[in-house]
Amino acid sequence: MDIKLETKPIAEVDADAVVVVGFEGDEANAGGDAAKELYSTGEFSGKALEIAILHRPSGMKAKRLVLAGGGKREKFDSAVLRRVTGAALRTLKCKGVRGIALALDEPFRSDEFTAAAVEGALLGNFETNTHKTDPKKDEKQVAWFAVLGGTQRALDRGRILGESQNFCRGLADEPGNVMTPTLLSEKARAMAAEQGLECEILDEARMRELGMGALLGVSQGSDEPPAMIIIRYRPAVAPSSKDHLGLVGKGVTFDTGGISIKPAEGMEKMRYDMAGGASVLGAMRAIAQLKPSIPVTAIVPTVENMPGSRAQRPGDIVKSLSGKTVEVLNTDAEGRMILIDALTYAQRLGCTHLVDTATLTGSIVVALGGIRAGAFTNNEPFLKKLLAAADSEGEKMWQMPLDEEYKEALKSDFADLHNIGGRAGGSITAAIFLRDFVNETPWIHLDVAGTAWLDEAKPYLAKGATGIGVRTFVHLADKW
Ligand code: BES
Ligand code: ZN
Ligand code: ZN
Repeated sequence: MDIKLETKPIAEVDADAVVVVGFEGDEANAGGDAAKELYSTGEFSGKALEIAILHRPSGMKAKRLVLAGGGKREKFDSAVLRRVTGAALRTLKCKGVRGIALALDEPFRSDEFTAAAVEGALLGNFETNTHKTDPKKDEKQVAWFAVLGGTQRALDRGRILGESQNFCRGLADEPGNVMTPTLLSEKARAMAAEQGLECEILDEARMRELGMGALLGVSQGSDEPPAMIIIRYRPAVAPSSKDHLGLVGKGVTFDTGGISIKPAEGMEKMRYDMAGGASVLGAMRAIAQLKPSIPVTAIVPTVENMPGSRAQRPGDIVKSLSGKTVEVLNTDAEGRMILIDALTYAQRLGCTHLVDTATLTGSIVVALGGIRAGAFTNNEPFLKKLLAAADSEGEKMWQMPLDEEYKEALKSDFADLHNIGGRAGGSITAAIFLRDFVNETPWIHLDVAGTAWLDEAKPYLAKGATGIGVRTFVHLADKW
């Protein structure tokens, strides 16, 4: 889908549909008599995400005038707009519309709104149909989306972010038989080459040499070889500070649970257990184009968690890259095992600030549902910065506690610690486990198990991977 700037006045725009936002109880400001009539007949009320379509609007060149509900005017912000354009696009796409232009009122023509509108359109347009054999699948494609007014810079930013988030979603939507650690590595390498980023991939032999026993313990039950993907972005001008952001994403391409096997029901969803890794790769894709002034390194440990004959057993003790030993009481708590070796490695690579993102626990789904990701930190100011970035990008997160008392649950009789802390506070003890491996480095852990996947489509987003994290990470690097 092409993204364009439209400079003509609204009446002269030659599009299949011109979209305007209508607010609740804001009939007086609705464009034209026909639009006012939609309000007065009750066909359109302005409620958020509502869509009404007028054909052959008088005085306009466009074929359709589309009223998209923006909710209450006072509550309208770029996050609402992102969803509104997504919903409008998804509705119009079904109707075979090919060219769409968005006209925003003057107070909503800032760069922030323009970028969000473009992101919403790209996100709404995205659908994974790589495995559908229907030859007609390309017929109902929207060819272009234009924004009236606005700056090219904002348009470009929206396009880069939207496309990068969709890149992430495309990776995470793929089934486990396709998206193996090897394919994820290849996709990462290709993306890095395309974007001019450095890429290095550690294979199994190299990881054994280094001593990444925690990660290798997880992958030994699968015939699929593991990998550690490392992608580096370096700013062209040497930065004045020593800060170096590390983004670490869980890349379990399928999580059966291993010998501590998961129940059959819903196990197919465990294809998205690499969504954290995919979001880090998506962020790097955008960072390469937006060129922030801070160096950023992405690290994606990727494995398949299978109960093969060589699989690790509950009770096995492994030695992590840090030198600390871990007793594996539950092989389904594999995400934290691969993350600790990645976090240790990130410190060796010189990262001064670490953010990890992972579909880590069912417990965070119980705590926060599918609305907000859980955020944990050992450094409050750093988390403040990330939460501000998340807020301005419309990605919902919520701080969770990390009191010392939780650490008790991880004490092992046979090793330095064990890998589970029981059912109570499961997402917190998982985070406490990770914290043990970051030392004094400012660190944030995001548990996105509830927010990385939609079980049902939203009006503005298809079923499947959401791409949570991509925009926040890019914003964090960009505004460093
Ligand atoms: N990948 C899962 C967590 C998960 C659950 C992601 C639901 C998405 C939706 C993770 O590896 C896992 O299995 N965690 C266990 C940990 C437990 C054994 C301590 C869990 O949360 O049940
Ligand atoms: Zn698991
Ligand atoms: Zn997992």
